[in-house]
Amino acid sequence: MMIVIEEVLTRDELARLRSLAQQAPWQTGVSAGTQAREVKHNLQIPEGAEVLPEMRALVLQALNRNRLLFSAALPLKLRPPNFNRYTPEHPNYGWHIDNTVRWLPDGTALRTDLSATLFLSDPGEYEGGELTIREPLGARAIRGAAGSLVVYPSGLLHEVSAVTRGERLACYLFMQSLVKDAEQRRLLHELDLALISLRRRLGENEPELVTLTGTYHNLLRRWTET
Ligand code: NI
Repeated sequence: MMIVIEEVLTRDELARLRSLAQQAPWQTGVSAGTQAREVKHNLQIPEGAEVLPEMRALVLQALNRNRLLFSAALPLKLRPPNFNRYTPEHPNYGWHIDNTVRWLPDGTALRTDLSATLFLSDPGEYEGGELTIREPLGARAIRGAAGSLVVYPSGLLHEVSAVTRGERLACYLFMQSLVKDAEQRRLLHELDLALISLRRRLGENEPELVTLTGTYHNLLRRWTET
């Protein structure tokens, strides 16, 4: 299941990220696996770039306060976010599946359960550049508003089609979830959203709500792996 979360970044955060991106030393990327590298034709900010720590901190601060993201992704570990840029000269990233294992700065491994793209450009600033994700029931294409986040299971084939005009800036990241199975995660998210809505209508203390909230937590307890 892919979800889109609008307005993950504030206007100020977005403006600051875009300004730092303009100062960044963009390079052709080599972060992909062997197959993905063949089809990757974009630019990214290299490790060690001076602007990277502040950019990463801004993104992490925005992700950490987002309750919808927490409910849908149940993140256990995040890889430090990276940034990419597509232009007509570096236009696209062909069909691929993200590598399953990524290494964290502390040397431990992260299993990529979820991939995410945080859009830093508005769709009006470029042509092309659709992120298409092949889900079991068909492909979905997205050109998100600046500041919005799309999250999808890392095991799905996806591509970014060619940018033919302008510039498409984005941040991308990988998460390991407390719940490995995408269907279990989807069920928990569905239950959580229904509970939030019921609590709003009925208050906190309805006995059935107390029971169902317990059911949510006990399912999470059964399915959590750390
Ligand atoms: Ni990818």
